[in-house]
Amino acid sequence: MARKMKAVQVPKAQGPFEIVERDIPEPGPGQVRLAVEACGVCHSDAITKEGWMPIQYPRVPGHEVVGRIDRVGPGVTAWKEGEHVGVGWHGGHCGQCEACRVGDYVTCVVQQVCGISYDGGYAEYMVAPQDVLARVPEGMGSEDAAPLLCAGVTTFNSLRNMGVRQGDLVAVQGIGGLGHLAIQYARKLGYRTVAISRGGDKRQLALDLGAHEYVDTERGKASEALQKLGGARVIMVTASSSSLAGELIGGLGRNGTLLLLGAGTEPIQVHGLPMLLKRQRVQGWPSGNPQDSQETMAFSALAGVRSRNESFPIDRVAEAYERMMSNRARFRVVLKVR
Ligand SMILES: NC(=O)c1ccc[n+]([C@@H]2O[C@H](COP(=O)([O-])OP(=O)(O)OC[C@H]3O[C@@H](n4cnc5c(N)ncnc54)[C@H](OP(=O)(O)O)[C@@H]3O)[C@@H](O)[C@H]2O)c1
Ligand SMILES: [Zn+2]
Repeated sequence: MARKMKAVQVPKAQGPFEIVERDIPEPGPGQVRLAVEACGVCHSDAITKEGWMPIQYPRVPGHEVVGRIDRVGPGVTAWKEGEHVGVGWHGGHCGQCEACRVGDYVTCVVQQVCGISYDGGYAEYMVAPQDVLARVPEGMGSEDAAPLLCAGVTTFNSLRNMGVRQGDLVAVQGIGGLGHLAIQYARKLGYRTVAISRGGDKRQLALDLGAHEYVDTERGKASEALQKLGGARVIMVTASSSSLAGELIGGLGRNGTLLLLGAGTEPIQVHGLPMLLKRQRVQGWPSGNPQDSQETMAFSALAGVRSRNESFPIDRVAEAYERMMSNRARFRVVLKVR
C-alpha cells in the first residue's frame, strides 16, 4: 500500500484550503521527489487560490519550496538523494515552448510553474522535473532559503540586470515579501536606497533593513519626494496597483526605469514627452531560472541578506495565507513543513 502524506490542496478556484491525506507521489523519468522542509507563501499563490489562470484543480500551491531529495526517478543523473535543493517560480518566460512562440505567456505559466501546472510545496512531499532544481548553499537553512526562490530571485535578478551604478538612487515601492528583500539587495549592491510605503508603520523596519530614506505615500506624492532626492535610476514596483505605478513614473530621473515586479490588471498611464526627453522606460521582470536562484542564494549568504519570516505549521495554512494577503506579515510567511 502507498505511504501517505499530508498536503494542502485548493479544490477549486476561490475554494478553501483543504488539509488532505494523499499518496506520497512517485517521481517519473527525469523527475525527483523532495521531502519538503519549508515553503514560502507568495502573493502569487493567489493565482492558484483565486483561480486567476486556467488551472486544473485540485491543486497544491507553493513555488518557494525547499527540501531534501528523497528519491530520484529513472534517467536522473545530475541529482542524488539527500541533496538540499529548492524549486521556485519557473515558467511564463521560457521562450522555448509553443505558447511562448505565439506570445501566450499565461499558457506557458499554466504548463510549467510549480504550484500551478503541477502540485507544489504546501505538502510533505512533491515531485519536480530535475531541471527546475536549484542547489541550496552549504549552511543555509530551509526556512531562510525558501523565500529566496521567488521573492529573492525576482528582486535580486531583476536589479542586477538594470545596469545601475554604485551610488545611484534605487527606490523600492511596497515593503512586503519582495520589497523587504529588495531593500536589502539594493543596499548591499551599493545603491542609495529609498523605501516607499503607505503610512509610517514600516519606517523603522525599512531603515533597519538598510534603506537610506523612507517615503510615506500618505504624506505626499512619492514622485515628488523622489524628485527632491534627485530622481530615481530604478523604481522597483511590488504592488499590483496600476494607478500607483503611473504616478511613480514621475519619480524617475534621467535614464530611469520603472521596474514592474507586481502588475495590476488595469493599464498604466504614461506621459510620453517627459519620458522621451529623459530617456525613461517601463520594464517588467519575471523571477529567473534555477541558475539565477542559485546565484541569489549564494549572494544572500555572502552579503548577509536574510528574509524576515513568520513561520506557520502546515495545518495553519489558511491563517498563514491570510496574514500575507492582509499585509500584516513582517515580512514573508513560510510554512514549516518538517
Ligand atoms: N515579477 C515576478 O516574477 C513576481 C514574483 C513574485 C511575486 N510577484 C508579484 O509581486 C507582488 C508582490 O508580491 P509579495 O509576495 O511581495 O506580496 P506582499 O508580501 O503582499 O507585498 C506587497 C506589498 O505591496 C504593497 N501594496 C499592496 N497593495 C497595495 C496598493 N493597493 N497600493 C500600494 N501598495 C500596495 C504593500 O506594501 P506597503 O504596506 O509597504 O505599502 C505590500 O506589503 C504580487 O503582485 C505578486 O504576485 C511577481
Ligand atoms: Zn512567488
